[in-house]
Amino acid sequence: MSCGHAMATESTALLCARGYSLRRADGMPVLQELSFHLGRGEILGVVGESGSGKTQLLLSLLGLAMRGACSGGSCRFDGVELAGAGEPVYRSQRGKRIAMLFQDPLLSWNPCLTIRTQLTEVLHAHCGLRGRAADARAAEALAAVGLAQPQRLLRQYPHELSGGMRQRAMLAMAVLAEPDLLLADEPTTALDATTQLAILDLLARLRRERGMSILLVTHDLGVVARVADRVMVMRSGQIVETGEVGTMLRQPAGGYARALLAAAQQLERREFPQ
Ligand SMILES: Nc1ncnc2c1ncn2[C@@H]1O[C@H](COP(=O)(O)OP(=O)(O)O)[C@@H](O)[C@H]1O
Ligand SMILES: [Mg+2]
Repeated sequence: MSCGHAMATESTALLCARGYSLRRADGMPVLQELSFHLGRGEILGVVGESGSGKTQLLLSLLGLAMRGACSGGSCRFDGVELAGAGEPVYRSQRGKRIAMLFQDPLLSWNPCLTIRTQLTEVLHAHCGLRGRAADARAAEALAAVGLAQPQRLLRQYPHELSGGMRQRAMLAMAVLAEPDLLLADEPTTALDATTQLAILDLLARLRRERGMSILLVTHDLGVVARVADRVMVMRSGQIVETGEVGTMLRQPAGGYARALLAAAQQLERREFPQ
């Protein structure tokens, strides 16, 4: 549920898009004239039917959209213009200031390297840490996401972990360099209900304790009702509705707002069974 934390205004926003757009190499529009903002320490839910451009939006902010795609308009991240930026700009932000958490943790891990190697690589690249200091920070990060026996985990390969453990470890890796913005694409979709809740609570804690901002793509309105402050609805590469989650729950107007209310009520029934 929204906690009313850090109500964003456009002037203080961490991320601010104005007429942001993305075209495929063949000229077909993928994102059209998006205008939205994300405040510091705010969680903005992004929902919308499959193919509406949610994943391409997140990827484009890291300069990783489909090959040949071209972004236009404006999307400023802490003063840095990301629209139409070149690879050096994206590289300076990626991992260190903007991190991404994908739906399927297996896709994001290199199967041939231990968890230690993959975590310490991030610490070396972004924080200049090596050796024992890096190992200690990596173990600390694993413990912080609720993983037991971090020393043992560091020696393991991704396939030796369960799906839920892999997603927790992925979250530990994403936030290792203490990014200001986390882009999360359906981060709980592939998980069982208990692990889903644990990951969502971790996201809420990261925002609370580190003031991290999160752009959270999900098709699950229960997820939005639980952790997002505001929600943005996308259809065919456009924003069709934006609102504060609390307001939408109190005064559901549009179809998505009503569905959101139903999801929140379902969540309540699940948590407080009669
Ligand atoms: N690699 C790609 N090449 C060409 N078009 C793509 C590619 N990936 C996605 N698209 C198109 O971009 C649009 C947005 O897709 P996507 O961002 O994946 O949607 P969502 O995440 O909301 O389901 C869709 O029309 C999809 O067909
Ligand atoms: Mg997607």
